[in-house]
This record gives sequence, structure tokens and C-alpha cells, in this order.
Amino acid sequence: MEAPIWVSYAALWLATVALLLLLSTNRRRRKLNLPPGPRSWPIIGNFNLVGSLPHRSFHNLSQKYGPLMMLRLGSHRVVVATSVETASLILKTHDLSFASRPRTAAGKHTTYNYSDITWSPYGPYWRQARKMCLTELFSVKRLESFEYIRTEEMNSLIKQLFSSNGKQIALKDHLSNVSLNVISRMVLGKRYLDEGEENSIIRPEEFKKMLDELFLLNGVLNIGDWIPYIGFLDLQGFVKRMKDLAKKFDRFMEHVLNEHNKRRATSEEWVARDMVDVLLELADDPNLEVKLERHGVKAFTQDLIAGGTESSAVTVEWAISELLKNPGIIDKATKELDLVVGRRRWVQEKDIPSLPYVRAIVKETMRLHPVAPMLVPRIAREDAQIAGYDIPKDTRVLVNTWTIQRDATVYENPEVFSPERFVGKNIDVLGRHYELLPFGSGRRMCPGYSLGLKVIESSLANLLHGFSWKLPAEMKADDLDMEEIFGLSNPRKVPLVVVAEPRLPRNLYDL
Ligand code: HEM
Repeated sequence: MEAPIWVSYAALWLATVALLLLLSTNRRRRKLNLPPGPRSWPIIGNFNLVGSLPHRSFHNLSQKYGPLMMLRLGSHRVVVATSVETASLILKTHDLSFASRPRTAAGKHTTYNYSDITWSPYGPYWRQARKMCLTELFSVKRLESFEYIRTEEMNSLIKQLFSSNGKQIALKDHLSNVSLNVISRMVLGKRYLDEGEENSIIRPEEFKKMLDELFLLNGVLNIGDWIPYIGFLDLQGFVKRMKDLAKKFDRFMEHVLNEHNKRRATSEEWVARDMVDVLLELADDPNLEVKLERHGVKAFTQDLIAGGTESSAVTVEWAISELLKNPGIIDKATKELDLVVGRRRWVQEKDIPSLPYVRAIVKETMRLHPVAPMLVPRIAREDAQIAGYDIPKDTRVLVNTWTIQRDATVYENPEVFSPERFVGKNIDVLGRHYELLPFGSGRRMCPGYSLGLKVIESSLANLLHGFSWKLPAEMKADDLDMEEIFGLSNPRKVPLVVVAEPRLPRNLYDL
């Protein structure tokens, strides 16, 4: 049977439209001046070039393709900036064009459908979240009001190390406990995770495992994020793990919010004691531009706990590792501490500005071991032009601070751990100096940087002031493995095992 005449017309019309579309896309593609990069394979793109430490793979590629290169990972274009100039173009000059985050399965499943701060897209909700961080959660006054918590937890770390009695310890376990306790007291109002706490909803070990899983799942290369049409297969099983984890976190968050709401409803002179209280109060504010819902409060809370726990512990563990390889630096630091603080008391937060050498050690550690070596991925909200190249909308954007912070044109002998390079120099970590960006820069810069710095600087200062650090007897400094593993943080591959011996009068350890 012959097809009716309109079918032939329709077919002809469709073919013409398809041809025109193809021509116009090709013309557009030909006109784009994309940054240089390796040729890509169908479907996988350049995934074959990315190893288990992606920042190092991108570093090697940048040596060939230059400081702004473009790759294709699965279905997505990815631009990687690896110099001071290109980083500042992205994070400063064109910050607004790149101020959003890509949508990932982790953001969807583990942060209440992008309702947290880290993964929420650029827009009024995220802007309001940042305002809350600035004026409420991390204001100078709020952070000062929690100083007693940081001091108490620091004291408890000192006591634990003292009682290790010269035996070998896995340092990061102790450091994570301090950060987790500090952050849970500041954010949740108490050590919900205390072993001794009656009716504890969750054991500390279980909670730490959940945090490790959260970090891992937020850092992994989940195939479905890159090749979306096979995402439903969940070939690596990550999405299932994300959903399981989200249920566990939600159970905990529900408990926390219920307890806080109960206290608020029953106490007559209620005042906000912790960050969850502040968030619940904000959630009730009818004048907020965008309503903060219950799931938003839970997502923010989870972000604060996750952001505040791992990063400082990882950084201090790296610092002590580097120092064990460089005993001369420890000597210089302890001389400074003895001079400024003296041997009759512990270091307080107010001492930190007077300890330039200890602060230089922290900077040097963050230079060589950034917690987020490629910051957190961003996405182009609109077409942009960087250094004469076109960056089309929806391109994912990474700033490889790992490469920048090892750039031999910026740092002399970049592989050498040398705090001296920062002494007397006007380089800080506040996002203004693009050669040192451990907290990122621009609109998406870490909002918790001042808290993070306080915890890192005063922990390190007290660890150096109060203890002599040694490797286990059978180990030499040269044997110390300095490999890392990739995730959303960049910890040591092999946890550091050390011996801590008291160096101050014994009575000081009676805390
Ligand atoms: C050593 C300590 C820390 C380091 C090195 C660190 C590093 C970073 C980095 C590199 C980013 C991404 C910046 C970018 O995309 O340009 C970030 C974002 C973030 N950090 Fe931190 N951070 C630390 C401590 C904290 C603390 C203590 C908190 C909260 C309690 C926190 C909460 C966050 C949040 C919520 C974001 C997402 C911001 C956004 O997307 O708007 N961080 N952090």
C-alpha cells in the first residue's frame, strides 16, 4: 500500500530540519576556540588518561597541554586550570560565571537533593546559605563564643597523648576525635557521639565510618555522573551505597532536630546554644527570602559536620609527617613556642598571631598537601571566554591547586618542605593569593576557613609545644611513606604511627 502524500512531505521536512540543525551545530563547533587537550575516545572520552590520583593525572597532562586545558570525561567537557593566572581568571575575573556546582549523584542522594551548601546550585537558596554562614554560623562573635569548647577538647587530646606513655599511636584517630567533638559540640550542642553518653543514638565508631563513607562517596568518580545514559545500571554500586548512607544520616539528623525542638518548646528562656538551634530559628523566620525547610536544616547540619571534621585532622597528620622528616624545623618551632608561650602553660588561640613560624608550617603543609587538591568542582553557568578560549555553558571546571602549589616558576624548590618560604612574606590562605588556595577563592570559597584554621593552628602548636615526636624505633624518617589517597579529602595512604613523649613539666598534663 502506498503511503499518503503528507507522510512524504513530513519526512522531507524532518530531514531538512535535521540537516539544518546538524549544519548549525557543526558551524558552532567549528567556530568555538576550545582550550587544547588530548583527543578523546567515543563514550569514555579521556577517562583512559585518569588514574587513581586524578589531580596527578591532570598535572601530568597539563605539562603537555598548558595551564588551561580541556578534556572530555564521558559525556562532559572538563576544563582544568593549573596556573596562578588561569586560576585567578576562573575564581576572580569570571567567578560569577563559574559559581555553580555540577549535579552529581552524591549531591542528590547524600545531601537531600542538593539542599546543602556545598552542592546546591548557584541561586537565591545558596546565596542565602552563604549569608547565614557569614552573619550567623561563622561570625567572629559566634566562633569566639565557642573557644572554650575548642580549649576543652584540646586539653582532652593532650591528656590522651600523655597517657599513651611513649607507646605507638595512630595519630589521626586522636586528631579526628578532637575535630569531631569540637564540631559536634559547636553544631549539635553536645558530644552526641560520646561513648559514655547515655541513650547515645549512635556509636562514635559507627558515626566515623559514616563520615568516611560520605567523604568517599562525594569524591569518587561515579560513572553515572559522567555517562548519564548508563547511570541507571549503577555499575560500581555507589548509588546504592549513597542511598543506604543517606538513610543512616537521616535517622541521626531526625533525632538531633527532635531533641532541639523539644528543648525549644519546653524551656522558658530559650536561647540558641549551638548551630542547629540557629538554623531552626532561621527556619522559622517568615522574612527569609527563600524558606529554609526541615530537610535544608538537616542538609546544612550534615555539611557543617562533614566539612569541619576530616579536613583539619588530615592537615595536622600531614604536618607531623613532614616534620618527622625534618627535625630541624621542629627545633625552630619549639624555640619559637618556648620564647613566646614559655614552658609553664599551653598555647592559647590568642598566641597564634605571635607564632609566625608555626603558622608558616601550617601554610607549607597546606601547600604540599591540600585537602581538596582540585577544590570542589564548579560548572559554567553561561558561555565564557578565558584567556582567549571559549568555555561553553555546562562545562565542568576544576582548579588544580596541587599543580599550582608545586609550580617551580612560583616556588623555588617546590618539592622541598620549607616553611621559611612563607616567613616575612605577605601570602595568606584567605583566597587572595592564587599561589596558595587551600580553602579555594571567590564566591564558593570555604565558609568554614576561620574555624578550620583555628583548629589546625592551635592543635599543631600545642602538639609541638607539649610533645617530642618520634617514629617507632624500627623506622627511619626516610622509610616514612608520603603517598596519598584521593577522595573529597586527600589523606595519607598509610596512617601515621608515632610516639609522643612529654616535653613540658609533668604537672601541666593534669588537665
Ligand atoms: C582545614 C580545614 C578546611 C579546608 C582545607 C577546607 C577546604 C575547602 C575547599 C577547598 C572548599 C571548596 C572551595 C571552592 O570550591 O572554591 C570548601 C568548601 C566548603 N567548606 Fe571547607 N575546608 C575546611 C574546613 C571547613 C569547615 C570547618 C567547615 C564547616 C564547619 C567547612 C565547610 C565548607 C562548606 C559548607 C563548603 C562549600 C561552600 C560552597 O559551595 O559554597 N569547611 N572547603
